[in-house]
Amino acid sequence: MLRKIIFSVVAIGFTSCVVFSRELKEFDNDVNYDEARIPRYDLPDPLVTAEGKPVTTADQWRNIRRPQILSLFASFIYGAVPVPPDPIAQTYHVIKEDKSFMGGKVTKLDVSIRFKNRKGTAETHVLVFLPNKAKEPVPAFMMLSFDNPRGGSFNLSSSRKGYLRNGVPLGQLVDQGYAYVSVYHGDLVGHNEVSFSGGIHKLFYRDGQSFPKAHEWGVLTANGWTGMRALDYLETNDRVDASRVAVMGHSKMGKATLWAAAQDQRFAMAISAQSGCGGAALWRRKYGETMSKLNRFPHWLSINARKFNDHEDDLPVDQHMLLSLIAPRPVYVASGTADTWADPHGEFQSANHAGPVYKLLGKKPLSTTKLPSPNQPLLDGDIGYHIRTGGHSVEPYDWQQFIKFADRHLQGK
Ligand code: GCU
Repeated sequence: MLRKIIFSVVAIGFTSCVVFSRELKEFDNDVNYDEARIPRYDLPDPLVTAEGKPVTTADQWRNIRRPQILSLFASFIYGAVPVPPDPIAQTYHVIKEDKSFMGGKVTKLDVSIRFKNRKGTAETHVLVFLPNKAKEPVPAFMMLSFDNPRGGSFNLSSSRKGYLRNGVPLGQLVDQGYAYVSVYHGDLVGHNEVSFSGGIHKLFYRDGQSFPKAHEWGVLTANGWTGMRALDYLETNDRVDASRVAVMGHSKMGKATLWAAAQDQRFAMAISAQSGCGGAALWRRKYGETMSKLNRFPHWLSINARKFNDHEDDLPVDQHMLLSLIAPRPVYVASGTADTWADPHGEFQSANHAGPVYKLLGKKPLSTTKLPSPNQPLLDGDIGYHIRTGGHSVEPYDWQQFIKFADRHLQGK
């Protein structure tokens, strides 16, 4: 969706102004899409500590190995959330409440989350859709989203009954007892942030600092942090059961989702749709998008991650270890057959290689080590996966699998 990067070339001194919009990858002629040309690689073992000791118990995983892996992802890939110089006060304000949304089925809340310390203020808007018929607090799907709550994406679709304009099957979600929460990516950090001078960052700077350090947060970490703050809000809303929230996202937001769920164990489940490079896909396959290509978005990852441009094999982690950080909580990975830039097979192999950690924690890994056929979802374990026919989007088919997976894990159906 957000694959289009706008390049503006303005010829200064001339009257002409050329603006063209193309996907960066369309300029690439060195992308590997050939399974036979994938280099030989060895994946780091999530179940061996940095000191070389095998991890054989759930306690060793929780107390030793999990924190090690978490800190490697923070330091070398996404960047860590810095400690602010001054505590940040966080307040919630319901700006609008519409109790009669979708013919009275849904209450729609527009909630402003405000942040403040002596360094400054920031604000983000979260939309919350609650099923009116529910008598008890409900589980929720929380989408880390590209859609701006101030735009028309959250109006009802005029062509597809029960859907929002942005393709979310809201009618079905609320009928099946879920709330839907949309967290906007662009309020606290820009999509392709380069200045880091506005948004949330100023609240985190020490005196004299004006830019994140090399090991500190890039855009994806800030996007996930926004989701965590929305979860803080949900903990105050008694119509939602904040202990049953599935965080989800597509593409860039799928990357942010997995990293958010890895860090914040309050998220009960994570769903990534076509998160690709920097998301579920394995770095070491170098198929489709690679580290150096992802780092053309200058700050999605931390500055430290650039050291691994064309040196993926030197990484102390790979993305199966990101998925394993979500264990024992259920995780779902979705791919698309035509979404080769995101390396569907690499997304599957990550889910596959997270299996031993799930097993160690008494959970059920994928039932096969081979990429399933298109539209044959693997829904019966604690790691779920499907590859849908088609390209880079979230389709009703994807939603159906996510809902089935959530029904089992969040509603015990
Ligand atoms: C680009 C980028 C991907 C990203 C995608 C998106 O294609 O290379 O890594 O997932 O945009 O967010 O739509």
